Amino acid sequence: MDKFIINGGKKLSGEVKISGAKNAILPVMTATLLTSGKSIFYNVPNLNDIKMMAHVLRVLGAQVEYADETLTIDTTHADYYEAPYELVSKMRASIYVLGPLLAKKGKARVSFPGGCAIGTRPVDLHINAMEALGAEINVEHGYINAACSQLKGAKIRFEKVSVGATANTLMAAVLAEKTTNLYNVAKEPEIGNLIDCLNQMGANIKGKNTSHLVVTGVSKLHPIEVEMMPDRIEAGTFLIAGALTGSNITITNCIPEHIQALLDRLIQAGCTLNLTEKTINIEPPARILPVDIVTYPYPDFPTDLQAQFMTLMTLANGESRIEDTIFPDRLMHVSELKRLDADISLEKHIAIVQGVRSLSGAKVMATDLRASAALVLAGLAAEGITTISRIYHIDRGYDRIEAKLQKLGADIKRVKG
Ligand code: UD1
Repeated sequence: MDKFIINGGKKLSGEVKISGAKNAILPVMTATLLTSGKSIFYNVPNLNDIKMMAHVLRVLGAQVEYADETLTIDTTHADYYEAPYELVSKMRASIYVLGPLLAKKGKARVSFPGGCAIGTRPVDLHINAMEALGAEINVEHGYINAACSQLKGAKIRFEKVSVGATANTLMAAVLAEKTTNLYNVAKEPEIGNLIDCLNQMGANIKGKNTSHLVVTGVSKLHPIEVEMMPDRIEAGTFLIAGALTGSNITITNCIPEHIQALLDRLIQAGCTLNLTEKTINIEPPARILPVDIVTYPYPDFPTDLQAQFMTLMTLANGESRIEDTIFPDRLMHVSELKRLDADISLEKHIAIVQGVRSLSGAKVMATDLRASAALVLAGLAAEGITTISRIYHIDRGYDRIEAKLQKLGADIKRVKG
């Protein structure tokens, strides 16, 4: 297993280009199962989660190719309907095949995704929504078996805002008979991107960026060719890197509006931000000010930046409180950050961070995707050497993070395991 070795305490400078958004691409990849033919996606990063989804699609019979940030998916012979345990257990987002398979093939067999490092993650909202659209579902031997003759439009109110359940249900409803009304849906930009892609395929979805979507079923969808949106979480991670290391850096190819909640907190923390339509320059403060955060669905502060922001707060001039209402147990990074001399205590699910003057390098272990990013950030700011093991987690969601950081002047290297 590869490791990162970071010699921290160096200032960063220059520009970094943000890659395409992993969480936007994953559902769009499965949406191609609703079509027959070749779709092409540009600005697709080289990530393990995308390779894993490509694998799932190949198992279903699609042809998938990837080169030069371009992903081609040909679903002409995607005739199978089972996503096996071996793949789904490695990547929860494989559940995204459920809606498209049901809508297109009238049946789906998908291994039940297990828990993961960030806590229990049920799929009841996905299953309830498919049933509301007329699917018969039984869960046995660890598999979700779903079947229908024809999905039928329905009124569905999600009990909780869920990105995954919104995406899956949309992909099922687009080919359902008549109209589906979805209430309390997720408004994340990745959902907006999915709506745009489905509409380009010929679907009829109205209400983008609101909590109520109206889907008028159509009989057929066609392949598309599109450029994928930039990754707001990667953008946020690099901005935090600038703030944390006291560096003036610029991120390019980003959509500032997608991370407004983070930008507001960075300004509260004393940073100066200079924005253009697609770039953000960050000027760090002399000393970071403490800022409390509570994660909520978009447009509020994203859970996927909670760990990174906590790292920033470890060097703040005072106390901050951090709570994740989306995944309350997403706190595995706390014990690792403490190895670097961060002062963090837990009051139930709330992390109380007392800012310290400096962090010191140590050996730590990556536990999940965003926690690993938080450790890389901490290593960049810490004095001395930080060694991060199990970095396969970070390769799931960040395309060559070490190369991008090296370009900014960081002393980070990958050691092959
Ligand atoms: C997606 C993102 C993930 C992000 C999360 C929240 C992808 C591939 N992943 O995950 O990076 O952290 O959104 O922004 O896009 N829930 C239920 N029942 C369900 C489904 C969800 O109770 O059937 C709960 C979850 O446990 C969680 C909340 O709803 O508390 C939100 O989760 P959800 O938005 O569904 O997360 P994912 O789509 O899995």
